[in-house]
Amino acid sequence: MHKNKLTIAILFGVSSFTLGCNNSTEQNAATTPIVEKAPEQSTLKARFKDHFKIGTAISRDQILGVLPDDLNVAKAQFNTFTPENSMKWERIHPQPDVYDFEAPDALVEYAQENNQELVGHTLVWHSQTPDWVFEDEQGEPLTREALLKRMQDHIFTVAGRYRDRIFAWDVVNEALNEDGTLRESKWSTIIGDDFIEYAFTYAKQAAPNAKLYYNDYNLYKPEKRAGALALIKNLQSKGIQIDGIGMQAHYSLDNPELSLMEDSIVAYAATGIDVMITELDISVLPFPESEEQGADISLDIALQERFNPYPDGLPSEVNKQLGKRYKEVFAILKKHGDKISRVTFWGVSDARTWRNDWPMQGRTDYPLLIDRELKLKSFVNDL
Ligand code: G3I
Repeated sequence: MHKNKLTIAILFGVSSFTLGCNNSTEQNAATTPIVEKAPEQSTLKARFKDHFKIGTAISRDQILGVLPDDLNVAKAQFNTFTPENSMKWERIHPQPDVYDFEAPDALVEYAQENNQELVGHTLVWHSQTPDWVFEDEQGEPLTREALLKRMQDHIFTVAGRYRDRIFAWDVVNEALNEDGTLRESKWSTIIGDDFIEYAFTYAKQAAPNAKLYYNDYNLYKPEKRAGALALIKNLQSKGIQIDGIGMQAHYSLDNPELSLMEDSIVAYAATGIDVMITELDISVLPFPESEEQGADISLDIALQERFNPYPDGLPSEVNKQLGKRYKEVFAILKKHGDKISRVTFWGVSDARTWRNDWPMQGRTDYPLLIDRELKLKSFVNDL
């Protein structure tokens, strides 16, 4: 049997196991038995079926079956998947001649066999891209032409591999600053601002039937919204295909003001492309006032206890606030269900969300709809 087929057979054939309850994002862990098979009609994907697809980010360990209970819950609850890390450049193409397709292949195969939408994440990003990508063999910065060639080779190899087997790609990720201007990165510095146009053009050539998206955080902000609209319209004016915009939605109990999110949904939809909520989670933890909320992963602050108030469980009052906040978010999303094609949570359960480690490592957060025991939170019934 082909190695990937074997992996899938092992993974997806397993029905009940054990799961980790620690806070690490991609580690196997201690054991707490459970996992009940959710009745089909009470799943998240059934609950929102008249509005949008409902998805999750899925880690390498989940895909490859190191965490079979997580995988079973993800399969039961969601109908669209995004690899959390395994298609990022540093993972899928760590060295010039080395590609690691193990987890991506398994996920693509699963999605295809089960007719699920898979969103590739991500082809061009300033982050999680090895330094060698931007340098020649002497360690000198590449020329514009050489970096464009490297971008093209990467996109052709990765997106080309899954050409007709992947639903969509986050082609460019997080290219904007908070004020809506273009972020300075090695991509923009060496190639120029048109690196985005080239990325979308190469993606279209490599996977002509895939939907092509721009994805970013804090897209509710009016200034950043203006930048994103300019980016979309620039591509459209040049006849370069862009099919959708992903609003990441790493929120908290008091941020953002949801009318801003709604205004952005309406404004993006007016350009004629799909709007998606791509990385939804709502942190219940205090956030250092000096820092920008969002998803800048270069932020890494030393752990302080006052920022980790619920290490032993979430008080019911705060859980109620979380339920209320989710209800408000979903009321807006459902109201605009005609514009929103997908809502994806960034992670399967609270046990392994990235929010436990950002902007400080080792906190205990509760940002998702599935708790550490892999059960749906009770407030889901109100959404
Ligand atoms: O797997 C290794 C582990 O073996 C090692 O011991 C450990 C030591 O630090 O690192 C582990 O890798 C970490 C990985 O997450 C898995 O936990 C990386 O250090 C860490 O950088 C990585 O963070 C990911 C982050 O993107 C950077 O790629 C998060 O899981 C992932 O949720 C996050 O996702 C991003 C989206 O792609 C884009 N939007 C923002 C979002 C949240 O930051």
